[in-house]
Amino acid sequence: MTRHFLRDDSITPAEQAEILDLAAQLKADRWSQKPLEGPQTVAVIFDKSSTRTRVSFAVGIADLGGSPLIISTANSQLGGKETPADTARVLERQVAAIVWRTYAQAGLEEMAEGTRVPVINALSDDFHPCQLLADLLTIREHKGELKGLTLSFFGDGRSNMGHSYALAGAMAGMHVRIASPEAYAPREDVVADAARIAAQTGGSVTLLADPREAAAGADVVVTDTWVSMGKEEEKLARLRDLGAYKVTGETMSLADPAAIFIHCLPADRGYEVDADVIDGPQSVIWDEAENRLHAQKALLVWLLKQQ
Ligand code: CP
Ligand code: NVA
Repeated sequence: MTRHFLRDDSITPAEQAEILDLAAQLKADRWSQKPLEGPQTVAVIFDKSSTRTRVSFAVGIADLGGSPLIISTANSQLGGKETPADTARVLERQVAAIVWRTYAQAGLEEMAEGTRVPVINALSDDFHPCQLLADLLTIREHKGELKGLTLSFFGDGRSNMGHSYALAGAMAGMHVRIASPEAYAPREDVVADAARIAAQTGGSVTLLADPREAAAGADVVVTDTWVSMGKEEEKLARLRDLGAYKVTGETMSLADPAAIFIHCLPADRGYEVDADVIDGPQSVIWDEAENRLHAQKALLVWLLKQQ
């Protein structure tokens, strides 16, 4: 049966660890695997803007011997004229996999149901699972192992990043703290799924309103934009509501002295994070951005092997 990667929990904890190990191998020996030799094509579709995801998938598919086909929804029939299921039926006869950045998670599910090639979520309103593979690889590189670490996320816990940290962090056996105002807390069903996973892995998920409590002793400090793509109309309210959750020098001083700072980028310096933190010595954001490449290559290699 075709495997897809639509959410962080589309894979098991053991599979997550396997993909991260493969990512480390591919990082050490970048051109060692060519499952797309031919070249086979991978469709990479964007309904929203992107720099890192577009570049890392295009480069990664080429590294694996394949050919990336980058599609902007604005110039395609998807997104109004044709359903995701019909688009999938057209693509599956010509491409080895479909990567899609979109708004509604339901569209990705429809795409996956309609096709026999793997579908990868390259960010939806609800999850950003490819980012989490890169983040976990980065944390592992800097901290040695994931299990038992405390990761504290500050800001919009109801965003794709908040949800993905809850699920993927729990899957890695981490203690995930989400610090946000109540109205920006992660969705209840996502928290319940993360708690169920954490019960198997020894991790935990804790929602906190107090950012100082969330920062105390953290091994990994994380934030993300307060205004995710599609939320631009709420910008003023979000800047007001999330102001107390900015990551500052004080946040870092409450965390473990060896804590690292990560951010999926793009960042709004002075809003969700101060420049002296994101550009400071504890920040590993450029390793994190590079690791998108290695993690997604590993994901593609792994998914293609499951067919
Ligand atoms: N982090 C991330 O997904 O960046 P892009 O929006 O540039 O792809
Ligand atoms: N939460 C952000 C992530 C960008 C990579 C957004 O959805 O815009």
